[in-house]
Amino acid sequence: MFLGIDLGTSSVKALLLDEGQRILADATRPLTVARPHPGWSEQDPEAWWQALLGVAGELRAARPRDWAAVRGIGLSGQMHGAVALDAAGAVLRPCILWNDTRAAAECRAMEAAVPELHAIAGNLAMPGFTAPKLLWLQRHETEVFARTRHVLLPKAWLGYRLAGEMVEEMSDASGTLWLDVARRDWSEALLAATGLSRAAMPRLVEGSAPAGRMRPALAVEWGFDQPPVLAGGAGDNAAGAVGLGAIRPGDAFISLGTSGVVFATTDHYRPWPQGAVHSFCHALPGTWHQMAVTLSAAASLAWWAGVARESEAALLAGLTAVQAPSPVFFLPYLSGERTPHNDGAVRGAFAGLAQESDRAAMTQAVLEGVAFSLRDGLDALAASGTALREATVIGGGSRSRLWVGVLAAALGIPLHRLAAGELGGAFGAARLARLAVTGEAAEAVCTTPERLETIAPDPGLAAAYAERLPRWRALYPALSSLEVKP
Ligand code: XUL
Repeated sequence: MFLGIDLGTSSVKALLLDEGQRILADATRPLTVARPHPGWSEQDPEAWWQALLGVAGELRAARPRDWAAVRGIGLSGQMHGAVALDAAGAVLRPCILWNDTRAAAECRAMEAAVPELHAIAGNLAMPGFTAPKLLWLQRHETEVFARTRHVLLPKAWLGYRLAGEMVEEMSDASGTLWLDVARRDWSEALLAATGLSRAAMPRLVEGSAPAGRMRPALAVEWGFDQPPVLAGGAGDNAAGAVGLGAIRPGDAFISLGTSGVVFATTDHYRPWPQGAVHSFCHALPGTWHQMAVTLSAAASLAWWAGVARESEAALLAGLTAVQAPSPVFFLPYLSGERTPHNDGAVRGAFAGLAQESDRAAMTQAVLEGVAFSLRDGLDALAASGTALREATVIGGGSRSRLWVGVLAAALGIPLHRLAAGELGGAFGAARLARLAVTGEAAEAVCTTPERLETIAPDPGLAAAYAERLPRWRALYPALSSLEVKP
């Protein structure tokens, strides 16, 4: 029996996976994001822990015998967040999240200080990554920085609470901007650029390798027969890939979660910083991947639902089949943008509003704006030499058939939906737990889950979107010239 945990941005999800890879039970607890200042995005790690206790309690109550037999735990997590800890391992301030844009000046400073940064890290310096956040702390919260002895990514902090050891794996470590991504090791040069050294970093393992064992006292408290092995785990996108069996070069998928991601597995390190493409290690040894990331995907719909004072489900239900584009444009840059713009200061917009613009037109514009920004990502990957011909969609947004149809037409490729697509990260994490316990070959475990359906691009809608895309793209320079200074 294996336990997969996904520490997301909007919730903590967990599931129990049996030896036949059947999901026996799953549980979710919501999380909120604090925005104490425009452009900032923070969460209290203690809230993650409380949410984890909630889902663990629910799974234990639902399947007591299966729960007791858990042999391995895998963690998937929202990437890039900085949890600063003091010498005693205590959290010094709320975690600064992946969609926080405060560290733009620090990105420029890092690129100036380490001219070979792009080659080592495989990426542009982006404000959402971890290292620029530490430089921001050094400049703006000097006392916190002076007391910082360790920095952990969100899921590694949960792992520390579970197993008492600071350990990180390669896929999430790649998103720090401190990793030498080709060598799969910390880079002293990049660490030095933020006033840190290897001593502040967790020990590195591969995602499918054992990282430790649950603390015996905690294992007794949680009701496990024996302390389970903790796997290295993965960043949520790499974990989603493992869950989908996207582990061979060329395998690809799209995540329509809080963020939107176009993900492709590669056989070697393939940096493409000129397109703001992310080049990271995969969660399995000897593999890498590329990602194009839009920061506000399902987050845009959640934002719009909040403004419209409606549930997301009710907004989607208010749309009948989409046969023609909305007359309204939406640009989803609520937290700035990564691919292709790497622009933390840009903000979103509705455009083309008229007297007749109603809630349905604006809701459809939100779905389309997110789809167009994923099209930007698809094109950035294609420019780097990674062309996608089809993809599976996972993440909360994949529950909406309508949105996946809009996305298929905007991308011009068929998209597959899965029965439990929104559990992707937790499912992949449970598979990594299994690999860490059994040492089986990844190919034997990371098979492709059964598809619910394939949605081909509607030819008429695809043609209409192709005509609309250049006009949507022409709005970005105007928005970027507004230069919102958080
Ligand atoms: C990836 C990224 C997001 C988060 C969401 O680079 O920042 O996809 O991992 O949890």
